[in-house]
Amino acid sequence: MTKILFVCLGNICRSPLAEGIAKSVAREKLFLCDIDSAGTSGFHEGEHPCEDSIKIAKMNHINIASLRARQVKRSDAKAFDYVIAMDAQNKKTLEEMGFKNVYLLGEFGGYEGKDVPDPYFFDTFDDGIKNVYTMISECVEDFIEKAAHGSI
Ligand code: 4NP
Repeated sequence: MTKILFVCLGNICRSPLAEGIAKSVAREKLFLCDIDSAGTSGFHEGEHPCEDSIKIAKMNHINIASLRARQVKRSDAKAFDYVIAMDAQNKKTLEEMGFKNVYLLGEFGGYEGKDVPDPYFFDTFDDGIKNVYTMISECVEDFIEKAAHGSI
């Protein structure tokens, strides 16, 4: 079965959203795959996703409230077919750890390789998180479509 890992820094804002959305899209498309997420840091190990991510996901009928943060580990490089980083810094960290073929989420969905902005640094729940949600969902939709057809 295809195994997919989404990676950000803390694994509490962006990558849990990507995980939840990807599971929903894969289910809709009847694409059987294993989807997980992790952070390059262990700052928030064991924590649930941040409030804003839980809230924006819920507004879109996706429940990510029970996910728990974990730090990426070297063995993930072999365990996953696709490793998708939320920004260039995460991609660089993964490559320094020895990961090969790491993609940026922004390489999908027509975002020209753009970084997914980090909602951890937003002051309030506002249009910022909505824009992040829109970007992640459009990129994830395109990525899952391509992964399901083996066209990456
Ligand atoms: P994430 O956001 O990488 O999207 O989960 C962050 C969460 C925590 C921190 C940075 C980014 N932090 O510095 O603790």
